Amino acid sequence: MKNFLITGGAGFIGSNFVHLMLKKYDDINVVVYDKMTYAGNLDNLAPVADDPRYNFYKGDICDHATVDEVMQKYKIDIIVNFAAETHVDRSLTEPGGFIQTDVYGTYILLEAAKKYEIERYHQISTDEVYGAVMEGRSVETDPLEPRSPYSAAKAGGDMMCQAYYTSFDIPITITRGSNNIGPYQYPEKVVPLFVSNAMEDKPLPLYGDGLQMRDYQYVLDHCEGIDTVLQKGKLGEIYNLGTGAETTNITMTKAILHLLGKPESLIQPITDRPGHDRRYALDCGKIQALGWNNQYNFEMAIEATVKWYVDNQDWWHKIKDGERYKEYYNRQYSGREVEK
Ligand code: NAD
Ligand code: DAU
Repeated sequence: MKNFLITGGAGFIGSNFVHLMLKKYDDINVVVYDKMTYAGNLDNLAPVADDPRYNFYKGDICDHATVDEVMQKYKIDIIVNFAAETHVDRSLTEPGGFIQTDVYGTYILLEAAKKYEIERYHQISTDEVYGAVMEGRSVETDPLEPRSPYSAAKAGGDMMCQAYYTSFDIPITITRGSNNIGPYQYPEKVVPLFVSNAMEDKPLPLYGDGLQMRDYQYVLDHCEGIDTVLQKGKLGEIYNLGTGAETTNITMTKAILHLLGKPESLIQPITDRPGHDRRYALDCGKIQALGWNNQYNFEMAIEATVKWYVDNQDWWHKIKDGERYKEYYNRQYSGREVEK
């Protein structure tokens, strides 16, 4: 049996990864280690709650003593670090928590990897570390040019991993993912926000001219890619992980409205995000050479995603009907409307 520590496993991608790994492999134990910030949600892990190979441990990756305790208690072989502050908009107003978790927390986990001489430390990173890419596609050796506090903090985490590989031979790998969509995504991110708003006949707050481009990837493809790198990735290496196809935000928004049978008049242009990166684009040749590929194109991914939110309204209503979410939404969006 291999013992996995999945940090941030109560969030969106981490919980999907836990589901996939427990389905795919009989010979693993999974410990989810999560601070349970606003983004952590045990409902995301309800389908595996009774699986004897799954354990949950509430803790902060910045807390050395608790990380140490869980490493010893569960004899961890492999750490997959999903834990992070993840929302770009929040990083513009409260950057401190991003630096703390995404950089310092990564360092604490790398120290644990070093102390316990584990088999693998895998870091979940993002295409945003390359900065806005107006032409061509980012390859793994490109310079890092992060432009938001979120992406700067993630770049710091990546570089810490590389430093621990170089300095201490820690067996690290890194994947840099694009915009994931699918089940269990907190409805602050654009796709679950727009799908749920549209279902409630509320406006869809589209930033700026809506012509920014993102590579929207189905979360299961991302999770399979991470597993591929765990199985076949070379130690010390970075792998881009996206679809390699970009969609403008306005196209994505219209696709959602079309799938739900809602009018385009729900689109409400609002003032742009400060420093909004216009485009991200990944070259994914390196991970494809390991034998992985996407199973979902954009149309399939958005259709499957919309269907999940239609079929699981209790899941997102529980979040959106709460005071904490309503307060965030008002703070983030009120008074930003611009004329159509
Ligand atoms: P999320 O915000 O849904 O979940 C993050 C999880 O981490 C939550 O469960 C939260 O409680 C936990 N967490 C936060 N701070 C913690 C701490 N200090 N200690 C322990 N747990 C903590 O995030 P997500 O969208 O699932 O992203 C997961 C990872 O993937 C992140 O590292 C993110 O940077 C990266 N990523 C996300 C995307 C995307 O499109 N969502 C794309 C590429 C990379
Ligand atoms: O690229 C990978 C990254 O994707 C991850 O590293 C981040 O954790 C994840 O949050 C995501 O970052 P983005 O900033 O691209 O995602 P977000 O869903 O916030 O926004 C996607 C696009 O939609 C972006 O161009 C901004 C736009 N947008 C977003 C929101 C929340 C809107 O037009 N309106 C909105 O209300």
